[in-house]
Amino acid sequence: MSARIFLPRDAGALALGADAVAAALAREAQARGIALEIVRTGSRGLYWLEPMLEVATPSGRIAYGPIAADEVASLFAAEFLAGAAHPKRLGRPEEIPYLKRQTRLTFARTGIVDPASAEDYAAHGGWLGLARAFALGPAATIEEVVASGLRGRGGAGFPTGIKWRTAAGAKAARKYIVCNADEGDSGTFADRMIMEGDPFVLIEGMLIAGYAVGASKAYLYTRSEYPHAIAAMERALAAAKRGGFLGDNIQGTGFSFDLEVRVGAGAYVCGEETALLDSLEGKRGMVRAKPPLPALEGLFGQPTVINNVISLASVPIILAEGAKAYQELGIGRSRGTMPIQLAGNIRYPGLFEAAFGVTLGELVEEIGGGTASGRPARAVQVGGPLGAYFPRALFDTPFDYEAFAARDGLIGHGGVVVFDDSVDMAAQARFAMEFCAIESCGKCTPCRLGSTRGVEVMDRIRAGRDVEKNLALIADLCETMKFGSLCALGGFTPYPVMSALTHFRDDFTRAAAHAAA
Ligand SMILES: Cc1cc2nc3c(=O)[nH]c(=O)nc-3n(C[C@H](O)[C@H](O)[C@H](O)COP(=O)(O)O)c2cc1C
Ligand code: SF4
Repeated sequence: MSARIFLPRDAGALALGADAVAAALAREAQARGIALEIVRTGSRGLYWLEPMLEVATPSGRIAYGPIAADEVASLFAAEFLAGAAHPKRLGRPEEIPYLKRQTRLTFARTGIVDPASAEDYAAHGGWLGLARAFALGPAATIEEVVASGLRGRGGAGFPTGIKWRTAAGAKAARKYIVCNADEGDSGTFADRMIMEGDPFVLIEGMLIAGYAVGASKAYLYTRSEYPHAIAAMERALAAAKRGGFLGDNIQGTGFSFDLEVRVGAGAYVCGEETALLDSLEGKRGMVRAKPPLPALEGLFGQPTVINNVISLASVPIILAEGAKAYQELGIGRSRGTMPIQLAGNIRYPGLFEAAFGVTLGELVEEIGGGTASGRPARAVQVGGPLGAYFPRALFDTPFDYEAFAARDGLIGHGGVVVFDDSVDMAAQARFAMEFCAIESCGKCTPCRLGSTRGVEVMDRIRAGRDVEKNLALIADLCETMKFGSLCALGGFTPYPVMSALTHFRDDFTRAAAHAAA
């Protein structure tokens, strides 16, 4: 019998040397005459411990990490294949506090299963949600998603079941499912982790969506910067086809469904759902005016459900375990779990899936261990480049769509980017305007011109020129962008700018104060 090791092929683990570790493991095993099977998994999402390998022992998996290739010989010498002691031994992965504290539903299998094997997926509870959907029928499947309280995890937080109901009610010969896997938000990687670590759960979620609304064709739209995710999805799609989960007459139900991966060049605005549709249709990604809603007139003018990866990947567990179990988690109108991504200047960066309600302070100080630099955390940007900067005084904000909105913030796709006390918040505000200027699709004036003027005004403020006058001007410009832009790129850029100005005003007046001194 051969020994079994699980080692991530996740992009983050690869960047930290996972392939070199795999090669060293194979070499060392061969030299010692040991038959070794290395299963390349996704990551558990504990990035400061990557590459983290896990050994299958009779009493469960034992983790070691972070492992460098030149440490592999010492692992064999210490008898790690039996789970023995070694300075890098972490013990049972589920007992690592960062994992133990989580409620893993959407990410239940990530880092555990072989992402290339449909059989392994089935052995770990896969396809049960689809089977239940087939048993319920399309209309009851939609009502189950409505009852779960699931809201879109791509940013806007729109109820997923209601979107499905709209598309299901539209009369058309052809309907589409589109998975938004563009994942452009800074500090986010949950979509990538699902695609690399548990691609079948996404395929299953898309199948359920297609069955529910009556769509037989689906596209997964991602970016060229995600080559490992694309490869993992392609491997899984081929396996799903072989297993009779894609194509005609799926599992003898009469339901047919086809799914293709499409790769964009990586423009932030192509994550906006209507620009994404333009890009999918082969055009330059430009935002479309709404209405019509994509659910009624979307891809090629046909009813289209566009959902984020995490929204779709959360559906199988909702169907498998029942809406009630999911709905019971969370607070207020934020139900279920949210895969929160801890990034930036943080000691323990990674993925933390938890029921809504965990506070920003708990995430940054307790779970994330404070900053990586060891200096005090000063600001946190939640929700990507359009998210507000929150100071320590707002660390009591719970992860909840409404609680963040009440404080002029957003949770977006769940990215949390931490900054220590060396950050210059006026520079960050300038960056927000510059980002908007670079990424603007150019369709509307407040965003296209406003962002460029915003950069110029910020430069004057940072140079200490007519600061009070220019601060009033930037506030006025932000009002115009907020209320006059066609989409949230121009409409939400004021949030990082104005939050920086509101909570960290000294950073904006410092240059003028220096000049006066
Ligand atoms: C500028 C901009 C960029 C966006 N980028 C993404 C993205 O990368 N991924 C995503 O899922 N949603 C993104 N969205 C939100 C989508 O427009 C849309 O709300 C989402 O795909 C709907 O899926 P959901 O309901 O499952 O969240 C973006 C929106 C804007 C305005
Ligand atoms: S706000 Fe910006 S990105 Fe959105 S439509 Fe207008 S110009 Fe395009």
